[in-house]
Amino acid sequence: MSGNSGLKTANKNKKDEFYTQLVDIEKELKYYTSYFENKTVFCNCDDPFESNFFKYFALNFNRLKLKKLIATCYAGSPIITEQLSLFEINGLVLDKKNPKKPYKIEINEISDMNQDGAVDLTDVEYLIKNKKNILTLLDGDGDFRSEECIKLLKEADIVVTNPPFSLFREYIAQLFKYNKKFLIIGNVNAITYKEIFSLIKQNKIWLGSSIHSGDREFRVPNDYPLKAAGFRVDEKGNKYIRVKGVRWWTNLDYKERHEDLILYKKYNEEEYPYFCNYNAINVNKTTDIPCDYKYEMGVPITFMDKFNPEQFKIKALGIVGSCTFTNNRKMEILDKNGKSTGKYTINAKGTLYRKFNPKADKVPNFKDVITGELYSSIYARLIIEKIDRGENNGN
Ligand SMILES: C[S@@+](CC[C@H](N)C(=O)[O-])C[C@H]1O[C@@H](n2cnc3c(N)ncnc32)[C@H](O)[C@@H]1O
Repeated sequence: MSGNSGLKTANKNKKDEFYTQLVDIEKELKYYTSYFENKTVFCNCDDPFESNFFKYFALNFNRLKLKKLIATCYAGSPIITEQLSLFEINGLVLDKKNPKKPYKIEINEISDMNQDGAVDLTDVEYLIKNKKNILTLLDGDGDFRSEECIKLLKEADIVVTNPPFSLFREYIAQLFKYNKKFLIIGNVNAITYKEIFSLIKQNKIWLGSSIHSGDREFRVPNDYPLKAAGFRVDEKGNKYIRVKGVRWWTNLDYKERHEDLILYKKYNEEEYPYFCNYNAINVNKTTDIPCDYKYEMGVPITFMDKFNPEQFKIKALGIVGSCTFTNNRKMEILDKNGKSTGKYTINAKGTLYRKFNPKADKVPNFKDVITGELYSSIYARLIIEKIDRGENNGN
């Protein structure tokens, strides 16, 4: 199983059990240090015994000058059952009939035991020895949508976590409903979700700073079925899987997202053909955006990794429902070898398409039923335009 198919399995099974590594959290959080002073941070998909998000904020509680840190976990998490030590913790009222009940932790103070300015103990048992910090059972199952978790959400200023991949749309919708600042992990493909794209277009959400390509390693539960490349087991027997397409998603601004993408290519008709069903040119790679073209262009969704809202305007998503297609022709769908299937579609199944180019495309995807012309579909394009800033060098 590759990293990507691991993610698909997570979606399918709604297992969602991928645990973020501390190093990845540190690499991203360093861009936002100034936002946390006197703020309440909520990690609402995080078992405090296991989550590196909780650990990061506990470790950096004083440095970031946090007011409060709250973490809640979910009854469905297999980790809970593994944490038997929890039941020995003083002060926690247990439900013996239901030992898997999830809990919340509220940290209000982290004292520096040896007064050297650093806090090196993030052990939960140590933290709750301080009477200002409380570990309690939740009434419900810890679902981020539950009443008690929403109450905590309302109290919070900034939400930081890696939420379940399969509930990403709902998770984001709730953050916006309660008008929260957030920094969360998701997948780059969420750019193509109608609701998420709408927020992107309005410049209300964008990608974070530290991950723009490749894959990232996540810990998975011990019973996770790992069979192929992209996984490893460490010396303690912990399992890890590499996941592709991971991105940070946020509405916290950072300096780097206002830097221009340097454009060096010039427009030419051959390299930048027009789509047949939308009045824009196709650009295959973000770095190939022509510096001297001032109309609409269709670029890959990974353009968002380089997006500076002062340089470009995002206009539409190149799929049916987001932009208005012209040339609604009936076409035969061709198979992966470019052969007839006897099945038909309008507008390349609702995506942008352009004329088949034997030099660039392996096989055509569609054939016009009337003219016999061949076409290639161009999936998941963002329609963008350069902002006219009155520069004469095209940039
Ligand atoms: C991708 S994992 C990440 C865990 C942790 N935030 C981290 O990064 O290490 C998502 C977590 O969300 C939990 N979860 C799943 N559905 C949930 C829900 N409806 N409400 C709250 N948490 C949920 C899962 O049990 C899982 O632990």
